Amino acid sequence: MTGRETADDRGTTAGDTTAGSKTAGGTTADGRGTITGDTAAGGTKPLRELFLLRDDVVFLNHGSFGACPQPVFAVYQNLQRELESEPVDFLARERTFPARMQQARARLAAFVGAQRDELVFVPNATTGLNVVARSLLLEPGDEVLTSDHEYGALDRTWHYLCGQAGARYVRRPVPLPLESSDQIVAAIWSGVTDRTRILFLSHITSPTALIFPVADLVRRAHEAGIVTVIDGAHVPGQLDLDLTALGADFYAGNCHKWLMAPKGAAFLYARTDVQHLIKPLIVSWGWQSDDPGPSRFVDEQEWTGTRDPAAQLAVPAAIDFFTQYEWPAVRERCHTLLREARTALTDVTKLTPICPASSDWFGQMHTLPLPDVEPLEFQRELRKRFAIEIPVFRFNDRSYLRVSIQGYNTEQDVAILARAVRELLG
Ligand SMILES: Cc1ncc(COP(=O)(O)O)c(C=O)c1O
Repeated sequence: MTGRETADDRGTTAGDTTAGSKTAGGTTADGRGTITGDTAAGGTKPLRELFLLRDDVVFLNHGSFGACPQPVFAVYQNLQRELESEPVDFLARERTFPARMQQARARLAAFVGAQRDELVFVPNATTGLNVVARSLLLEPGDEVLTSDHEYGALDRTWHYLCGQAGARYVRRPVPLPLESSDQIVAAIWSGVTDRTRILFLSHITSPTALIFPVADLVRRAHEAGIVTVIDGAHVPGQLDLDLTALGADFYAGNCHKWLMAPKGAAFLYARTDVQHLIKPLIVSWGWQSDDPGPSRFVDEQEWTGTRDPAAQLAVPAAIDFFTQYEWPAVRERCHTLLREARTALTDVTKLTPICPASSDWFGQMHTLPLPDVEPLEFQRELRKRFAIEIPVFRFNDRSYLRVSIQGYNTEQDVAILARAVRELLG
Protein backbone atom coordinates (compact mmCIF):
# COMPACT_ATOMS: atom_id res chain seq x y z
CA MET A 1 0.00 0.00 0.00
CA THR A 2 1.52 3.33 -0.92
CA GLY A 3 1.20 6.55 1.03
CA ARG A 4 -1.16 8.00 -1.55
CA GLU A 5 -3.47 5.04 -1.22
CA THR A 6 -3.79 5.02 2.54
CA ALA A 7 -6.73 6.20 4.53
CA ASP A 8 -4.46 8.93 5.84
CA ASP A 9 -3.67 10.10 2.36
CA ARG A 10 -1.32 13.03 2.64
CA GLY A 11 -2.14 13.83 -0.98
CA THR A 12 -5.64 15.06 -0.20
CA THR A 13 -6.02 18.58 -1.47
CA ALA A 14 -8.35 21.29 -0.34
CA GLY A 15 -9.67 22.44 -3.70
CA ASP A 16 -12.43 24.99 -4.12
CA THR A 17 -15.90 23.65 -3.92
CA THR A 18 -19.26 24.80 -5.00
CA ALA A 19 -21.67 22.04 -4.15
CA GLY A 20 -22.73 20.55 -0.86
CA SER A 21 -24.08 23.50 1.06
CA LYS A 22 -24.43 22.59 4.66
CA THR A 23 -25.70 24.27 7.75
CA ALA A 24 -24.04 24.08 11.11
CA GLY A 25 -26.17 22.42 13.73
CA GLY A 26 -29.30 20.75 12.38
CA THR A 27 -29.61 17.12 13.24
CA THR A 28 -26.52 15.66 14.67
CA ALA A 29 -24.60 12.71 15.95
CA ASP A 30 -27.41 11.84 18.31
CA GLY A 31 -30.04 12.16 15.63
CA ARG A 32 -32.12 14.10 18.13
CA GLY A 33 -31.24 17.57 16.99
CA THR A 34 -28.33 19.90 17.41
CA ILE A 35 -25.73 18.81 19.92
CA THR A 36 -25.21 21.77 22.15
CA GLY A 37 -22.65 22.42 24.77
CA ASP A 38 -25.11 22.84 27.66
CA THR A 39 -22.70 21.24 30.07
CA ALA A 40 -20.38 22.21 32.84
CA ALA A 41 -18.79 24.53 30.28
CA GLY A 42 -21.99 26.56 30.45
CA GLY A 43 -22.35 27.13 26.71
CA THR A 44 -25.36 26.44 24.53
CA LYS A 45 -23.65 26.56 21.14
CA PRO A 46 -23.98 23.62 18.77
CA LEU A 47 -20.71 21.72 18.96
CA ARG A 48 -20.16 22.39 15.25
CA GLU A 49 -19.75 26.07 15.99
CA LEU A 50 -16.94 25.38 18.42
CA PHE A 51 -14.71 24.11 15.63
CA LEU A 52 -12.73 26.08 13.09
CA LEU A 53 -13.70 23.84 10.19
CA ARG A 54 -15.07 25.48 7.05
CA ASP A 55 -18.83 25.54 6.77
CA ASP A 56 -18.77 24.76 3.05
CA VAL A 57 -17.06 21.38 3.50
CA VAL A 58 -18.74 18.19 4.69
CA PHE A 59 -15.85 17.09 6.85
CA LEU A 60 -15.90 13.32 7.33
CA ASN A 61 -12.17 12.87 7.77
CA HIS A 62 -11.33 13.64 11.37
CA GLY A 63 -9.14 10.54 11.32
CA SER A 64 -6.35 11.90 9.14
CA PHE A 65 -5.31 15.00 11.04
CA GLY A 66 -7.97 15.70 13.69
CA ALA A 67 -9.61 19.09 14.24
CA CYS A 68 -9.10 21.39 17.20
CA PRO A 69 -12.00 23.22 18.88
CA GLN A 70 -11.73 26.97 19.36
CA PRO A 71 -11.41 27.03 23.18
CA VAL A 72 -8.41 24.71 22.95
CA PHE A 73 -6.97 26.56 19.98
CA ALA A 74 -7.21 29.84 21.92
CA VAL A 75 -5.14 28.39 24.76
CA TYR A 76 -2.61 27.18 22.18
CA GLN A 77 -2.33 30.57 20.53
CA ASN A 78 -2.01 32.33 23.89
CA LEU A 79 0.88 30.03 24.74
CA GLN A 80 2.51 30.87 21.43
CA ARG A 81 2.11 34.60 22.11
CA GLU A 82 3.57 34.16 25.57
CA LEU A 83 6.53 32.31 24.07
CA GLU A 84 7.17 35.02 21.50
CA SER A 85 6.81 37.83 24.02
CA GLU A 86 9.69 36.51 26.17
CA PRO A 87 11.29 33.35 24.78
CA VAL A 88 13.97 33.18 27.45
CA ASP A 89 11.45 33.39 30.28
CA PHE A 90 9.36 30.73 28.59
CA LEU A 91 12.04 28.22 27.62
CA ALA A 92 15.05 28.83 29.82
CA ARG A 93 14.31 30.76 33.01
CA GLU A 94 15.27 28.52 35.89
CA ARG A 95 13.15 25.36 35.72
CA THR A 96 9.86 26.88 34.65
CA PHE A 97 9.72 25.11 31.29
CA PRO A 98 10.41 21.55 32.58
CA ALA A 99 7.94 22.26 35.39
CA ARG A 100 5.24 23.25 32.90
CA MET A 101 5.93 20.23 30.75
CA GLN A 102 5.81 18.06 33.84
CA GLN A 103 2.38 19.41 34.78
CA ALA A 104 1.07 18.78 31.27
CA ARG A 105 2.50 15.26 31.29
CA ALA A 106 0.91 14.58 34.67
CA ARG A 107 -2.53 15.55 33.29
CA LEU A 108 -2.06 13.40 30.20
CA ALA A 109 -0.68 10.48 32.20
CA ALA A 110 -3.76 10.49 34.44
CA PHE A 111 -5.95 10.55 31.31
CA VAL A 112 -4.26 7.52 29.73
CA GLY A 113 -3.61 5.50 32.89
CA ALA A 114 0.14 5.88 33.18
CA GLN A 115 2.62 7.40 35.61
CA ARG A 116 3.82 10.91 34.86
CA ASP A 117 7.42 9.96 34.04
CA GLU A 118 6.44 7.03 31.84
CA LEU A 119 5.33 9.57 29.21
CA VAL A 120 7.17 12.09 27.12
CA PHE A 121 5.66 14.47 24.62
CA VAL A 122 6.64 13.99 21.00
CA PRO A 123 5.36 15.92 17.96
CA ASN A 124 3.48 12.93 16.53
CA ALA A 125 3.07 9.16 16.82
CA THR A 126 5.48 8.56 13.94
CA THR A 127 8.28 10.23 15.87
CA GLY A 128 7.48 8.37 19.10
CA LEU A 129 7.45 5.01 17.34
CA ASN A 130 10.67 5.83 15.50
CA VAL A 131 12.34 6.54 18.84
CA VAL A 132 11.36 3.05 19.99
CA ALA A 133 12.10 1.24 16.74
CA ARG A 134 15.54 2.82 16.43
CA SER A 135 16.39 2.12 20.06
CA LEU A 136 15.61 -1.60 20.02
CA LEU A 137 18.71 -2.99 18.42
CA LEU A 138 17.87 -5.80 16.03
CA GLU A 139 20.30 -8.52 15.06
CA PRO A 140 20.56 -10.50 11.82
CA GLY A 141 17.80 -13.11 11.68
CA ASP A 142 15.61 -11.37 14.29
CA GLU A 143 11.95 -11.00 13.37
CA VAL A 144 9.51 -8.13 13.91
CA LEU A 145 5.97 -9.45 13.73
CA THR A 146 3.08 -7.29 12.59
CA SER A 147 -0.15 -7.32 10.55
CA ASP A 148 -0.90 -6.18 7.01
CA HIS A 149 -3.17 -3.40 8.39
CA GLU A 150 -0.40 -1.10 9.62
CA TYR A 151 0.10 2.56 8.81
CA GLY A 152 2.36 3.07 5.78
CA ALA A 153 4.87 5.38 7.46
CA LEU A 154 5.52 2.90 10.25
CA ASP A 155 5.65 -0.03 7.85
CA ARG A 156 8.44 1.88 6.17
CA THR A 157 10.20 2.54 9.48
CA TRP A 158 10.34 -1.16 10.31
CA HIS A 159 11.18 -2.21 6.74
CA TYR A 160 14.08 0.23 6.78
CA LEU A 161 15.41 -0.80 10.18
CA CYS A 162 14.99 -4.52 9.53
CA GLY A 163 16.80 -4.04 6.20
CA GLN A 164 19.68 -2.27 7.95
CA ALA A 165 20.00 -5.01 10.59
CA GLY A 166 19.43 -8.06 8.37
CA ALA A 167 16.26 -8.77 10.35
CA ARG A 168 12.87 -9.84 8.91
CA TYR A 169 9.70 -7.76 8.97
CA VAL A 170 6.89 -10.33 9.05
CA ARG A 171 3.50 -8.90 8.00
CA ARG A 172 0.81 -11.45 8.76
CA PRO A 173 -2.35 -11.08 6.64
CA VAL A 174 -5.57 -10.47 8.56
CA PRO A 175 -8.17 -11.23 5.87
CA LEU A 176 -11.52 -9.45 5.62
CA PRO A 177 -14.37 -9.71 6.45
CA LEU A 178 -13.92 -10.58 10.11
CA GLU A 179 -16.45 -12.16 12.43
CA SER A 180 -14.54 -12.70 15.64
CA SER A 181 -11.55 -11.09 17.28
CA ASP A 182 -10.10 -14.58 17.72
CA GLN A 183 -9.51 -14.57 13.97
CA ILE A 184 -7.25 -11.53 14.35
CA VAL A 185 -5.34 -13.04 17.26
CA ALA A 186 -4.90 -16.36 15.43
CA ALA A 187 -3.82 -14.71 12.16
CA ILE A 188 -1.16 -12.62 13.87
CA TRP A 189 -0.02 -15.09 16.50
CA SER A 190 0.56 -17.82 13.93
CA GLY A 191 3.49 -15.69 12.74
CA VAL A 192 5.45 -16.14 15.99
CA THR A 193 8.69 -18.09 15.68
CA ASP A 194 11.64 -18.53 18.01
CA ARG A 195 13.22 -15.53 16.23
CA THR A 196 10.35 -13.14 17.00
CA ARG A 197 11.78 -10.28 19.05
CA ILE A 198 9.17 -7.56 18.64
CA LEU A 199 5.41 -7.46 18.15
CA PHE A 200 4.36 -4.20 16.51
CA LEU A 201 0.64 -3.54 16.11
CA SER A 202 -1.89 -0.76 15.76
CA HIS A 203 -4.48 -0.49 18.48
CA ILE A 204 -6.85 1.07 15.94
CA THR A 205 -5.72 0.38 12.39
CA SER A 206 -5.38 3.12 9.82
CA PRO A 207 -6.76 1.66 6.57
CA THR A 208 -9.41 -0.55 8.16
CA ALA A 209 -10.19 1.47 11.34
CA LEU A 210 -10.50 -1.79 13.30
CA ILE A 211 -9.96 -1.99 17.03
CA PHE A 212 -7.38 -4.75 17.27
CA PRO A 213 -7.49 -7.03 20.35
CA VAL A 214 -4.13 -5.75 21.54
CA ALA A 215 -4.65 -6.63 25.22
CA ASP A 216 -4.82 -10.34 24.37
CA LEU A 217 -1.82 -10.15 22.04
CA VAL A 218 0.25 -8.09 24.47
CA ARG A 219 -0.40 -10.66 27.21
CA ARG A 220 0.68 -13.53 24.97
CA ALA A 221 3.77 -11.65 23.83
CA HIS A 222 4.73 -10.81 27.38
CA GLU A 223 4.49 -14.48 28.35
CA ALA A 224 6.65 -15.38 25.34
CA GLY A 225 9.30 -12.75 26.11
CA ILE A 226 8.47 -10.69 23.01
CA VAL A 227 8.75 -6.89 23.26
CA THR A 228 5.47 -5.10 22.47
CA VAL A 229 5.29 -1.80 20.59
CA ILE A 230 1.77 -0.47 20.10
CA ASP A 231 0.74 2.24 17.66
CA GLY A 232 -2.16 3.99 19.36
CA ALA A 233 -2.26 6.98 16.99
CA HIS A 234 -6.08 6.93 16.87
CA VAL A 235 -6.78 5.89 20.44
CA PRO A 236 -6.54 8.79 22.94
CA GLY A 237 -9.99 10.34 23.03
CA GLN A 238 -11.60 7.65 20.91
CA LEU A 239 -11.20 4.74 23.36
CA ASP A 240 -10.68 4.82 27.10
CA LEU A 241 -7.07 3.99 27.69
CA ASP A 242 -5.40 2.42 30.72
CA LEU A 243 -1.79 1.90 29.75
CA THR A 244 -0.83 0.33 33.05
CA ALA A 245 -3.57 -2.28 32.71
CA LEU A 246 -2.73 -2.87 29.04
CA GLY A 247 0.84 -3.73 30.00
CA ALA A 248 2.49 -2.97 26.65
CA ASP A 249 6.17 -2.16 26.81
CA PHE A 250 5.93 0.83 24.49
CA TYR A 251 2.92 2.77 23.22
CA ALA A 252 2.63 5.95 21.17
CA GLY A 253 -0.57 7.97 20.92
CA ASN A 254 -1.64 11.16 19.22
CA CYS A 255 -3.41 13.89 21.14
CA HIS A 256 -4.01 15.87 17.94
CA LYS A 257 -6.47 13.38 16.49
CA TRP A 258 -9.37 12.25 18.72
CA LEU A 259 -8.40 14.21 21.82
CA MET A 260 -8.62 17.31 19.61
CA ALA A 261 -5.40 18.97 20.79
CA PRO A 262 -3.55 21.25 18.36
CA LYS A 263 -1.33 19.54 15.81
CA GLY A 264 2.07 18.59 17.16
CA ALA A 265 0.81 16.99 20.40
CA ALA A 266 1.51 13.29 20.88
CA PHE A 267 3.18 11.08 23.44
CA LEU A 268 5.52 8.16 23.78
CA TYR A 269 4.91 5.83 26.72
CA ALA A 270 7.67 3.54 27.96
CA ARG A 271 6.99 1.40 31.00
CA THR A 272 9.43 2.27 33.79
CA ASP A 273 11.20 -1.10 33.78
CA VAL A 274 11.96 -0.95 30.03
CA GLN A 275 12.91 2.72 29.77
CA HIS A 276 16.59 1.79 29.87
CA LEU A 277 16.15 0.28 26.36
CA ILE A 278 15.24 3.68 24.90
CA LYS A 279 17.96 5.89 23.50
CA PRO A 280 17.82 9.58 22.65
CA LEU A 281 17.23 9.86 18.88
CA ILE A 282 18.39 13.44 19.15
CA VAL A 283 21.23 13.89 21.58
CA SER A 284 20.85 17.21 23.34
CA TRP A 285 21.22 18.83 26.77
CA GLY A 286 19.27 16.10 28.51
CA TRP A 287 21.88 13.43 27.86
CA GLN A 288 24.24 13.35 30.83
CA SER A 289 22.35 16.41 32.00
CA ASP A 290 24.05 18.99 34.21
CA ASP A 291 20.71 19.56 35.90
CA PRO A 292 18.94 16.20 35.92
CA GLY A 293 15.24 15.92 36.73
CA PRO A 294 13.61 12.90 38.37
CA SER A 295 13.65 10.78 35.17
CA ARG A 296 16.53 10.09 32.80
CA PHE A 297 14.03 8.99 30.13
CA VAL A 298 12.29 12.37 30.33
CA ASP A 299 15.58 14.31 30.41
CA GLU A 300 16.85 12.54 27.31
CA GLN A 301 13.65 12.82 25.26
CA GLU A 302 12.03 16.12 26.24
CA TRP A 303 14.49 18.77 25.12
CA THR A 304 15.66 18.15 21.55
CA GLY A 305 16.53 21.78 20.78
CA THR A 306 14.60 24.99 20.27
CA ARG A 307 11.01 24.35 19.20
CA ASP A 308 7.44 25.46 19.79
CA PRO A 309 5.98 23.37 22.62
CA ALA A 310 2.60 25.18 22.64
CA ALA A 311 0.57 22.29 21.20
CA GLN A 312 1.87 19.95 23.88
CA LEU A 313 1.29 22.46 26.67
CA ALA A 314 -2.28 22.84 25.39
CA VAL A 315 -3.05 19.15 26.00
CA PRO A 316 -4.51 19.86 29.49
CA ALA A 317 -6.91 22.32 27.80
CA ALA A 318 -7.93 19.56 25.37
CA ILE A 319 -8.59 17.24 28.32
CA ASP A 320 -10.63 20.01 30.00
CA PHE A 321 -12.66 20.45 26.81
CA PHE A 322 -13.21 16.71 26.59
CA THR A 323 -14.47 16.65 30.17
CA GLN A 324 -16.52 19.84 30.11
CA TYR A 325 -18.37 18.89 26.96
CA GLU A 326 -18.95 15.36 28.22
CA TRP A 327 -17.19 13.84 25.24
CA PRO A 328 -17.69 10.18 26.22
CA ALA A 329 -21.42 10.73 25.66
CA VAL A 330 -20.75 12.67 22.45
CA ARG A 331 -18.60 9.89 21.05
CA GLU A 332 -21.29 7.33 21.83
CA ARG A 333 -23.71 9.38 19.76
CA CYS A 334 -21.05 9.62 17.06
CA HIS A 335 -20.74 5.84 17.04
CA THR A 336 -24.51 5.51 16.61
CA LEU A 337 -24.46 7.95 13.70
CA LEU A 338 -21.54 6.06 12.19
CA ARG A 339 -23.56 2.86 12.29
CA GLU A 340 -26.35 4.71 10.51
CA ALA A 341 -23.82 5.76 7.89
CA ARG A 342 -22.74 2.14 7.52
CA THR A 343 -26.33 1.06 6.95
CA ALA A 344 -26.95 3.86 4.44
CA LEU A 345 -23.78 3.12 2.46
CA THR A 346 -24.27 -0.63 2.54
CA ASP A 347 -27.78 -0.04 1.14
CA VAL A 348 -26.12 1.74 -1.77
CA THR A 349 -23.18 -0.59 -2.41
CA LYS A 350 -24.78 -3.94 -1.35
CA LEU A 351 -21.29 -5.00 -0.22
CA THR A 352 -20.58 -6.99 2.92
CA PRO A 353 -19.09 -4.85 5.72
CA ILE A 354 -15.63 -5.77 6.97
CA CYS A 355 -16.70 -6.58 10.56
CA PRO A 356 -19.78 -6.76 12.81
CA ALA A 357 -21.57 -3.51 13.71
CA SER A 358 -20.44 -3.04 17.28
CA SER A 359 -18.31 -0.76 19.42
CA ASP A 360 -16.01 -3.72 20.05
CA TRP A 361 -14.94 -3.41 16.43
CA PHE A 362 -14.91 0.31 15.70
CA GLY A 363 -15.45 3.60 17.47
CA GLN A 364 -15.82 6.86 15.58
CA MET A 365 -14.19 5.67 12.38
CA HIS A 366 -15.32 2.90 10.06
CA THR A 367 -14.04 1.57 6.76
CA LEU A 368 -16.59 0.46 4.18
CA PRO A 369 -16.01 -1.44 0.95
CA LEU A 370 -16.75 0.20 -2.39
CA PRO A 371 -17.12 -1.45 -5.77
CA ASP A 372 -13.97 -1.43 -7.86
CA VAL A 373 -13.61 2.35 -8.32
CA GLU A 374 -10.44 4.29 -9.04
CA PRO A 375 -9.89 5.63 -5.49
CA LEU A 376 -8.20 8.96 -6.14
CA GLU A 377 -10.66 9.82 -8.87
CA PHE A 378 -13.62 8.88 -6.65
CA GLN A 379 -12.21 10.91 -3.75
CA ARG A 380 -11.64 13.88 -6.06
CA GLU A 381 -15.21 13.72 -7.35
CA LEU A 382 -16.61 13.58 -3.82
CA ARG A 383 -14.60 16.66 -2.94
CA LYS A 384 -15.22 18.62 -6.12
CA ARG A 385 -18.87 17.88 -6.79
CA PHE A 386 -20.21 17.33 -3.28
CA ALA A 387 -17.68 19.17 -1.06
CA ILE A 388 -17.12 15.99 0.93
CA GLU A 389 -13.74 15.49 2.56
CA ILE A 390 -13.22 11.77 3.03
CA PRO A 391 -10.43 9.28 2.27
CA VAL A 392 -10.96 6.72 -0.49
CA PHE A 393 -8.17 4.22 -1.06
CA ARG A 394 -7.14 0.76 -2.10
CA PHE A 395 -6.35 -1.86 0.52
CA ASN A 396 -5.27 -5.34 -0.52
CA ASP A 397 -6.63 -4.79 -4.05
CA ARG A 398 -10.08 -3.58 -3.05
CA SER A 399 -11.51 -0.08 -2.85
CA TYR A 400 -12.69 1.36 0.45
CA LEU A 401 -13.84 4.58 1.99
CA ARG A 402 -13.23 5.50 5.62
CA VAL A 403 -15.90 7.52 7.41
CA SER A 404 -14.97 9.50 10.53
CA ILE A 405 -17.70 10.91 12.75
CA GLN A 406 -16.81 13.55 15.32
CA GLY A 407 -19.07 15.70 17.50
CA TYR A 408 -19.41 18.32 14.78
CA ASN A 409 -20.91 15.89 12.25
CA THR A 410 -24.62 15.67 11.60
CA GLU A 411 -27.17 13.29 10.11
CA GLN A 412 -27.23 15.68 7.20
CA ASP A 413 -23.52 15.01 6.55
CA VAL A 414 -24.23 11.29 6.37
CA ALA A 415 -27.22 11.83 4.07
CA ILE A 416 -25.09 13.98 1.74
CA LEU A 417 -22.42 11.26 1.66
CA ALA A 418 -24.88 8.45 0.93
CA ARG A 419 -26.53 10.50 -1.84
CA ALA A 420 -23.19 11.39 -3.38
CA VAL A 421 -21.91 7.79 -3.34
CA ARG A 422 -25.19 6.62 -4.91
CA GLU A 423 -24.87 9.23 -7.65
CA LEU A 424 -21.20 8.50 -8.38
CA LEU A 425 -21.75 4.76 -8.52
CA GLY A 426 -24.62 5.41 -10.92
C1 LIG B 1 -2.38 3.90 12.78
C2 LIG B 1 -1.61 5.17 12.57
N1 LIG B 1 -0.37 5.25 13.06
C3 LIG B 1 0.38 6.36 12.94
C4 LIG B 1 -0.12 7.46 12.29
C5 LIG B 1 0.76 8.64 12.15
O1 LIG B 1 0.31 9.74 12.86
P1 LIG B 1 1.22 11.04 12.83
O2 LIG B 1 1.24 11.52 11.42
O3 LIG B 1 0.54 12.00 13.74
O4 LIG B 1 2.56 10.64 13.29
C6 LIG B 1 -1.39 7.43 11.74
C7 LIG B 1 -1.91 8.60 11.03
O5 LIG B 1 -3.02 8.72 10.68
C8 LIG B 1 -2.15 6.24 11.87
O6 LIG B 1 -3.37 6.15 11.34
